[in-house]
Amino acid sequence: MSDTASRPVLYVIVCAAGPATHVDRLVTQAQVRGWEVCVIPSPNAVDFINVAALQKMTGHPVRSRYRKPGESGSLPKAQAVIVAPATYNTLNKWAHGIADNYPLGLLAELVPLGIPTVVLPFINSALAANPALSRSISELRAMGVRVLYGPGEFEPHAPGTGGSRLDAFPWGLALDAAEDARRGASPTQG
Ligand SMILES: Cc1cc2nc3c(=O)[nH]c(=O)nc-3n(C[C@H](O)[C@H](O)[C@H](O)COP(=O)(O)O)c2cc1C
Repeated sequence: MSDTASRPVLYVIVCAAGPATHVDRLVTQAQVRGWEVCVIPSPNAVDFINVAALQKMTGHPVRSRYRKPGESGSLPKAQAVIVAPATYNTLNKWAHGIADNYPLGLLAELVPLGIPTVVLPFINSALAANPALSRSISELRAMGVRVLYGPGEFEPHAPGTGGSRLDAFPWGLALDAAEDARRGASPTQG
């Protein structure tokens, strides 16, 4: 982790859904491709991940809340963001402008700042049938967020079958999309 200044920084925002337990797979793939990675779980996702192991892998604090005044451990500025797995809850809150936790607060600022942002949901077909979800996805896409939802991307699974889909969660698709989005972003994004 010595040449951090030369590597682009990827924020990985993790929500509380099954694939979160394997977010180290995304961290490893991103590091191999030359990214400096910071993992930012939602408060609910903390129970799904191994905070100590991810801190060791990334060399950065894995924090689900804002720093207290005077607390050390700031993160480097992001050049791209991946939200994966993205829950029904976080997608709907984000699209409605709610920023009641640290990752939602970051998303509320980073997207308008033009930081390329990619979303890979993990949602069952019952949740997906709520019209709120399609409205939220449309809102996020209108904001310029790349939402990997639909044929060839993430497709909802039947309720109760998520556990059998964890190994097939397409982390690499999110990374490819983040790299594409970054290439397409304005040069001022760094
Ligand atoms: C074991 C477990 C698995 C879950 N899987 C999902 C899921 O696949 N998709 C989803 O949207 N919510 C899932 N949930 C529900 C979310 O954790 C819940 O909506 C939570 O409020 C999401 O918080 P967050 O969006 O802040 O991470 C799951 C909950 C548990 C306990």
